Amino acid sequence: MKPAVLVARAVFPETVARLRTVFEVEDNPEDRIYSAEELSRRLQGKAGAFLTASERIDAAMLDAHPQLRAVCNMAVGYNNVDVAACTARGVLVTNTPDVLTETTADFGFALMMATARRIAESEHFLRSGQWNKWAYDMFTGPDVHGATLGILGMGRIGQGVAHRGALGFGMKVIYHNRSRLPAEQEAPIGARWVDKATLLREADHLVLVLPYSAASHHAIGAAELALMKPTATLTNIARGGIVDDAALAQALRERRIAAAGLDVFEGEPKVHPDLLTVPNVVLTPHIASASVATRRAMAELAADNLIAALTGGVPPTPVNAEVLR
Ligand code: GLV
Repeated sequence: MKPAVLVARAVFPETVARLRTVFEVEDNPEDRIYSAEELSRRLQGKAGAFLTASERIDAAMLDAHPQLRAVCNMAVGYNNVDVAACTARGVLVTNTPDVLTETTADFGFALMMATARRIAESEHFLRSGQWNKWAYDMFTGPDVHGATLGILGMGRIGQGVAHRGALGFGMKVIYHNRSRLPAEQEAPIGARWVDKATLLREADHLVLVLPYSAASHHAIGAAELALMKPTATLTNIARGGIVDDAALAQALRERRIAAAGLDVFEGEPKVHPDLLTVPNVVLTPHIASASVATRRAMAELAADNLIAALTGGVPPTPVNAEVLR
């Protein structure tokens, strides 16, 4: 008998068809968002789950489903899964790193540029019929080329953004991360490790690319925003909750920083109402990895992981590889 798996969200039909060759698949082509109760009901009897970052797997969910052996996220981030609880119960967790790095870095850079150069704000102005003359100071903003790019979280995506800034736009790169990059990775882009306060004080454009955890919750709040230059921009392509959205909306309204670009939000898809009323913020609906090719690659990698995990293979991108030993 084929093992049973749940595909918790709508995904490419080709990916589901491939999973059906190996598994008994319950899928969700209507793409309903399951409550925790419904997710739990649908996980009954399932050996594996294909998830996105919107389904939460915690210790209670695992205890209710002792038959569950693999939790495969179609996302690089996995803060929706209690990895320690999974590891303690021998449940494999996988994510989809690498395949989305360049696409996500492209988007981070684009969002930063749109933020600095006021692309969304000026487009709204034009669309609403307010444009009746050219003016010397209309929608002026800070330059990107030659400015100081600050990266908080210098993993694969952070390095991708840094490369774009240094090599394409002549930016000076500073970064803060738990660990310093080896010198041979810093040198080609002239990247300099600084403490967090220095990063906040010196960056002209600060881009957040760090994973969400209890430690990074509100890593950017009122105190951190107060250290930033009034001409600086802040871009978040990491996770909601890393920024205190209420504090950011207030800082934007009071022009304590120039502008922000946000692809992720605390409690998304809800967006803090104050962010919707400030003009100097570019808002996008969590689409940093959304190129067609990358979303396909992510789905296929999540499927590769699920198939390997439940058929005795070697999952390509485990989060808790210790479970495999
Ligand atoms: C998207 O946010 C991801 O973690 O892949």
